[in-house]
Amino acid sequence: MESGMAFSVSDPAQVHVAADEKDFVTKALEYIVARAETSVEEHGVFIWALSGGTTPAPVYARLQNVPSFPWEQTVFLWTDERCVPPEHPDSNYGMALRFMPNLQRGKVLRIEGEYPAKQAAERYHEVLNSAIPQEHGLPVIDLVLLGVGEDGHTASLFPGTEYLASTGKNTLVHTAGTQHARVSLSLPVINNAETCVFLATGPAKEDIVREILLQRADVPARHVRPKNGTLVWIVKEMDPLGEQ
Ligand code: 6PG
Repeated sequence: MESGMAFSVSDPAQVHVAADEKDFVTKALEYIVARAETSVEEHGVFIWALSGGTTPAPVYARLQNVPSFPWEQTVFLWTDERCVPPEHPDSNYGMALRFMPNLQRGKVLRIEGEYPAKQAAERYHEVLNSAIPQEHGLPVIDLVLLGVGEDGHTASLFPGTEYLASTGKNTLVHTAGTQHARVSLSLPVINNAETCVFLATGPAKEDIVREILLQRADVPARHVRPKNGTLVWIVKEMDPLGEQ
C-alpha cells in the first residue's frame, strides 16, 4: 500500500499512513479544520477535546498559524489532564497553550489539575453537563483528539482498570502507575463524539495500532468507537496494516 493513501479498514475506522511529518500534520489539520467548519456551520460552535502527550504538539503549532481557524467559536476541552497546576511542565493544558496560544481566544474549559483528583473529576463532570450540549444523556463533543500508548491506553484510560464500568459520570480518576494522578473523559463521553481522531507515530506503536485496528487487542483504545460518529487514525513511521 502506498503511504499517504487513505483506506478504510473494517468499518468504521479510516486509516491514513502519512509519508512524513509534513503529511502527518497536514492530514491532521485537514480533519480538525473540516470538523471545525462543519460544527460552526451546524451549531455555531466547535467543541474540541484536545489530547495530551507529545504527538499532537506539531499539529497544535501548525494550527496556531492558520488565521482562518474559528478560534473565537471554539470551545476547548481536554481528553485528560495530569493533576498538576496549569503552569506545571507536565500539564496537558500548559502544553497546548505553549504550542497554540490562540486557544485563549476561544472558550477554555480546562480540567483543573490543581485540585485533588476526585474534586477535579467531579468539577469537570459538572462543567461537561452544564456547558456542553447533551445527547443520550451525555455531552456531545464535535472532535475528540486522542493519542495511544504502547500498552493501548488512550486519554487516561489504562488497561487493567475499570474504564468499561458505567458510572454515570463524564469523567474518571486514574492513579495507578502514572507519575501524577489523572482525570480523564470517560469512554461513553468519548464514544458520544461526532469524530474521534487518533494520532500515533513511531515504529514502537505499530504492533499495538495493528492489534487495535484489527480489533484483536482488548485495550482501551480499541474500545473507542464513536456510536454515531467517525473514527480516524492518522499514523506516521509505521504501516500497521501493510505487508507483514
Ligand atoms: C496524556 C495523554 C496520553 C497520550 C499517550 C501518547 O495525558 O499523556 O492523554 O493518552 O496521548 O500517552 O503519548 P505521546 O503522544 O507522548 O506518545
